[in-house]
Amino acid sequence: MGAVATTTIAGVMLVRRGRAKPVGSMTQLGRMAPATGVTRDAPLLRDVVPLASLDQLRFGGWDIFADDAYESALGAGVIEERDLEPVRDELRAVRPMDAVFYPGYVRRLNGTHVKRACSKAEMVESVRSDIRKFKAEHGCDRLVAIWCGSTEVFQRPSATHATVRSFERGLTEGSDDISNAQIYAWACLEERVPFANGSPNLCVDFPAALELAREHAVPVAGKDFKTGQTMLKTALAPALKARLLGIHGWYSTNILGNRDGAVLEDPGSFRAKEATKLGVLEQILEPELNPGLYGSLAHKVRIDYHPPRGDAKEAWDSIDLFGWLGYPMQIKIDFQGRDSILAAPLVLDLALLLDLAARAGLSGPQEWLSFFFKSPAAVAERRVEHSLFVQQRMLEDALRRMASRDADARVDA
Ligand SMILES: NC(=O)c1ccc[n+]([C@@H]2O[C@H](COP(=O)([O-])OP(=O)(O)OC[C@H]3O[C@@H](n4cnc5c(N)ncnc54)[C@H](O)[C@@H]3O)[C@@H](O)[C@H]2O)c1
Repeated sequence: MGAVATTTIAGVMLVRRGRAKPVGSMTQLGRMAPATGVTRDAPLLRDVVPLASLDQLRFGGWDIFADDAYESALGAGVIEERDLEPVRDELRAVRPMDAVFYPGYVRRLNGTHVKRACSKAEMVESVRSDIRKFKAEHGCDRLVAIWCGSTEVFQRPSATHATVRSFERGLTEGSDDISNAQIYAWACLEERVPFANGSPNLCVDFPAALELAREHAVPVAGKDFKTGQTMLKTALAPALKARLLGIHGWYSTNILGNRDGAVLEDPGSFRAKEATKLGVLEQILEPELNPGLYGSLAHKVRIDYHPPRGDAKEAWDSIDLFGWLGYPMQIKIDFQGRDSILAAPLVLDLALLLDLAARAGLSGPQEWLSFFFKSPAAVAERRVEHSLFVQQRMLEDALRRMASRDADARVDA
């Protein structure tokens, strides 16, 4: 029930009442471009692939605070009170289920709306039972889960995360290696619920979770929504590289004042975010192939919590580049974004596309959804792709394949 989750839920409710436009959502506004050439009449993507419609969606979630989605949305201060008014009752009906909360993974928060259980294995069972109850109460045919919870502390996969068996042992023994987010993710995989991780922490991107996802044929995706500064970085860096312009330095700094910002003040949570934000430039610029242009690149990322800003994040980039004959130049970017306004359409798109993936029989890490993430899932030996435009092509190619399979199935039927 945080800022991103409630902005998504309230937004969908407003859009389906015709009160607002789903700006930023590829599934609602995007068109299916042809594989080659340019056309004037590319059809809407949602007319080509069989996506669930907004009217079919029901929302649920967990939080460590008891506030319903209306109170939380008001508290988050992203959508104004007068804009929430038309969907107030609908939002009030979305009440968080009791959360799994072992403190220590998110050090700046302390909630009271939490489950009690004797072991982490019992916690998984409790989340599974919530999922089944939600599905029955709301008459849902299918479910999808998107992690919009706080960023947990940085963690590398350990021996506990190695296999399904070792993870299950860790759950029974209450291993400290297993975080809250991992407990939710495990419960979802056990219930065959496709899962995407919108935050930078370890969640479904470790061998045991991938093994379970494959065993149960569940699609998974992650991690860390690519919404603002990194989205621009992964659009601009390929352009500079395409022109063979050199880069000496890329300094990125952010201020934000929402609860996410408060959580990121903790060095453990910041480290998780820093890792996903830093990774992108090297892969795009390939300094090993272009040492004279990018071999000495200094890349720094900072995030500062500044309460007066609320959700209105400001991100600055200062890029030191050089051109013909090595002459230096600079680019300055000042992105005055709104964190949750940028993230909400991605949550909606991921929910609809993961549901589509499950129906198309896809499982395991969904590389074609890299477009939405700062730190996308790597598949087998292939390198992770960060360029926004290559990611967009991968997404469109996958949808085109699904569209033609769907058309074939309709013809067969
Ligand atoms: N543009 C963006 O907004 C953006 C971009 C990339 C990633 N993210 C990530 O999305 C996530 C959500 O961001 P936000 O701005 O909504 O943050 P937020 O702090 O408003 O919301 C997070 C919510 O998670 C809840 N929570 C924490 N631990 C929990 C647990 N164990 N069980 C259930 N609930 C729990 C908190 O109480 C809070 O309500 C963060 O991890 C953030 O890093 C956001």
